[in-house]
Amino acid sequence: MTLDKTKIIALMNEGLEMEYASHIQYVTQAAMTTGPYAEGLIARFEEIASDEAEHAKILRARIAALGGVPTTKVGQIQVHKDSLQAVKINLKYERETVTFYRKLLNLIPHDEVILYEAVEHVLQDSQEHVEELERLVGK
Ligand SMILES: [Fe+2]
Ligand SMILES: [Fe+2]
Repeated sequence: MTLDKTKIIALMNEGLEMEYASHIQYVTQAAMTTGPYAEGLIARFEEIASDEAEHAKILRARIAALGGVPTTKVGQIQVHKDSLQAVKINLKYERETVTFYRKLLNLIPHDEVILYEAVEHVLQDSQEHVEELERLVGK
């Protein structure tokens, strides 16, 4: 398998848009969270938001290394004033993210080690986010 740079750069930019949206979504939801479980939820949202910012940084670096231009676009953002609904929205989004990065990873040859491991890391974090949010919604 050879690396289709143009396709990978386009997909990584799609991922970058999602990471920007995701970061803004989590920090906004952290700010909007109230109620008896607010402290724990806010801490979790803030922590995940930091991961999303890190993912964006990783993607920017790899896009540039591939000779592409990192996008400045931001994907669709959805927030909810009800904390449980917010968690459910995030869970859905994270599951879509996992599917997206899994597909992306399958397009990268293993010997492209830096790129492969970068995407693998983002995928792993996304799977962790799914697990963490599943715990919050109780399933
Ligand atoms: Fe992410
Ligand atoms: Fe995530």
